[in-house]
Amino acid sequence: MSAPNKSYDPVEVEALKPEEIERMRDEALAAFAAADSLDALHEAKVAHTGPASPLALANREIGALPPHAKADAGKRVGMARGAVNKALAARQSELEAERDARVLVEEAVDVTLPHDRVPAGARHPLTTFMERVADVFVSMGYEIAEGPEVEAEWFNFDALNFTPDHPARQMQDTFFVEGPEGDRGESGVVLRTHTSPVQARSLLDREPPVYIVCPGRVYRTDELDATHTPVFHQIELLAVDEGLTMADLKGTMDHMVQSLFGADMKTRLRPNYFPFTEPSAEMDMLCYVCKGESVGNPDRPCRTCSSEGWIELGGCGMVNPRVLVACGVDPEKYSGFAFGFGIERMLMFRHNVEDMRDMVEGDVRFTRPFGMEI
Ligand code: DAH
Repeated sequence: MSAPNKSYDPVEVEALKPEEIERMRDEALAAFAAADSLDALHEAKVAHTGPASPLALANREIGALPPHAKADAGKRVGMARGAVNKALAARQSELEAERDARVLVEEAVDVTLPHDRVPAGARHPLTTFMERVADVFVSMGYEIAEGPEVEAEWFNFDALNFTPDHPARQMQDTFFVEGPEGDRGESGVVLRTHTSPVQARSLLDREPPVYIVCPGRVYRTDELDATHTPVFHQIELLAVDEGLTMADLKGTMDHMVQSLFGADMKTRLRPNYFPFTEPSAEMDMLCYVCKGESVGNPDRPCRTCSSEGWIELGGCGMVNPRVLVACGVDPEKYSGFAFGFGIERMLMFRHNVEDMRDMVEGDVRFTRPFGMEI
């Protein structure tokens, strides 16, 4: 009988010696304790519990032992690995708790700090003001109407009783749209010079009574300067019903200026001429700054109305029966009033804007003081 194979004794296998296993365990525990971050702990984990770690290699040696030695060595390696895994898990949760606490401190948001975010955009004061004016009429039951900006000459002029030789039709005022042959002025299409063509469109679209308000963009061949821009905005108003008179026009306008400028405001009418209204008038409103007190009073000059006491608003009048007829409305049964004015001008005197170019150049230093209305 041969002697016991000494080299199979676990005590003889270097990696399985009890003190060797204890050393491996203690090294692992020390490495975990020394790991000061989750990344460092991960490295220690790979080194001390991974497939190439000393304890894993020792574990592999067990298979080669004789049966009687396997249990003993397996128990010692198993206990060491158990202790290592336990220490690893404990350190892992310790470091995670530290990280969570740190994140709470480092990533805390001080909501009281002044902010420097990119300011939110807002709509242009021209748009918001135009809608505010339109709202005054909507609250009286008027309907918003729209028409095209590239308009048939017939709607822009003919339907509104402009004679073929009316000066407003001339090239110096009107943008004519070229026809397919590049024929200027013969295509019958223009960029609308006012919002009044929407009067004709609305009358053709609807049965009276008609109460519409049309805010929109219009075009004229003006050079851009402090008081002119080739693209600007108007608001048009049209009421057609039975028995409407100039008193209704006046009352409606008074209501508008009171809503926009204050309860003590009023309007006045001065005779004027427009082909599509008869009689026609120019509408002025009381200067909302000096309320007329600057007139003849050199001690109290008013910049807003140039001490005139009144500010010109726009044109108005009773709808010319010829327009009603052109749009299929019986002038024996119905009458109407209309009004149209420029938004830029009104925004200018309402907010003391001295140069119209500020309104179109898109510089936020101009628009910002109007607020962030959207
Ligand atoms: N359309 C005219 C213009 O642009 C303004 C105007 C005058 C409109 C009289 C009207 C009106 O509705 O009745 O100069």
